[in-house]
Amino acid sequence: MTPSLKGKDILHGNQFTKKDIDAILRTAASFEKELKEKGQVNLLKGKILATLFYEPSTRTRLSFETAMQRLGGGVVSMGSVESSSVAKGESLADTVRTVAQYADAIVIRHPKVGSAKEAADAVSIPVINAGDGAGQHPTQALLDIYTIKKELGSLNHLKISLVGDLKNGRTVHALVEILSLFDSKLYFVSPDVLRMPEQITSQLKQKGIEVNETQDMRLAARNTDLIYMTRIQKERFADLSEYEKVKGSLIINSDFVKELNKKIVILHPLPRVDEISPEVDDYQGAAYFRQVRNGVYVRMALLAMVLGKR
Ligand code: NCD
Repeated sequence: MTPSLKGKDILHGNQFTKKDIDAILRTAASFEKELKEKGQVNLLKGKILATLFYEPSTRTRLSFETAMQRLGGGVVSMGSVESSSVAKGESLADTVRTVAQYADAIVIRHPKVGSAKEAADAVSIPVINAGDGAGQHPTQALLDIYTIKKELGSLNHLKISLVGDLKNGRTVHALVEILSLFDSKLYFVSPDVLRMPEQITSQLKQKGIEVNETQDMRLAARNTDLIYMTRIQKERFADLSEYEKVKGSLIINSDFVKELNKKIVILHPLPRVDEISPEVDDYQGAAYFRQVRNGVYVRMALLAMVLGKR
């Protein structure tokens, strides 16, 4: 039987089974096809999604809003923190309880780890975590896995390099949870101070995932089929002089791709700063803008599923 996400919150990469992932990817693929054929899927007419973003966002907020509207639903948005009652000191619980009087589902991004769970505990409608500080970003991980499957053709025997700020990057924290459901061989490439949290690495190893930690991006790239590049998360550094020491330390440019002498798929959750040179964008393995587009299909699938329409 197909598992149901009806009424569920989407909070953490570890909440999914392989069957859930399969159902989400199949639903996303069917929406991709339907959207290409008809431009619109009228499944959520009369439903309203609220987006609450306490941190900057371009892709995540706009792709959720696009997904909801492509499904025929409506969107209300809190706008910036400065222009809402958050600026008057309203608690997160009170804000989400209020929003739950208007909307059928909530998407939230907040700087504090655990905030999406806190919001979900305060209301009965589905709450979707669009990033809680340096914690998790499960919907990004789902669109990443959808893209990985499309680009590599399968999710079996994955050989993947995760590069950049593995300490603070919430997208990689969520993605490795999902990768751990599959037979994956992983390379973690980062400056020493930005290594993947030890707890995450040891849990992966316990699950039988092969994890190799290195600072050598060339070595990792030679041994893998896909590089997942990430931005160094400047906003999470308490001391900016520490950021200055590591910024620009890992960069993919056209020389890097040429010297590699094989095709490699390059993903990035975006935004990028300097970690992928724009000259790489025309390389056939550069899939980060295709990845952005996939975000709409995957978020359509999640919205339809938590609202019980798939
Ligand atoms: C990421 C995020 O917000 O965690 N962006 C995104 O949602 N696509 C990555 C980042 O900000 O570096």
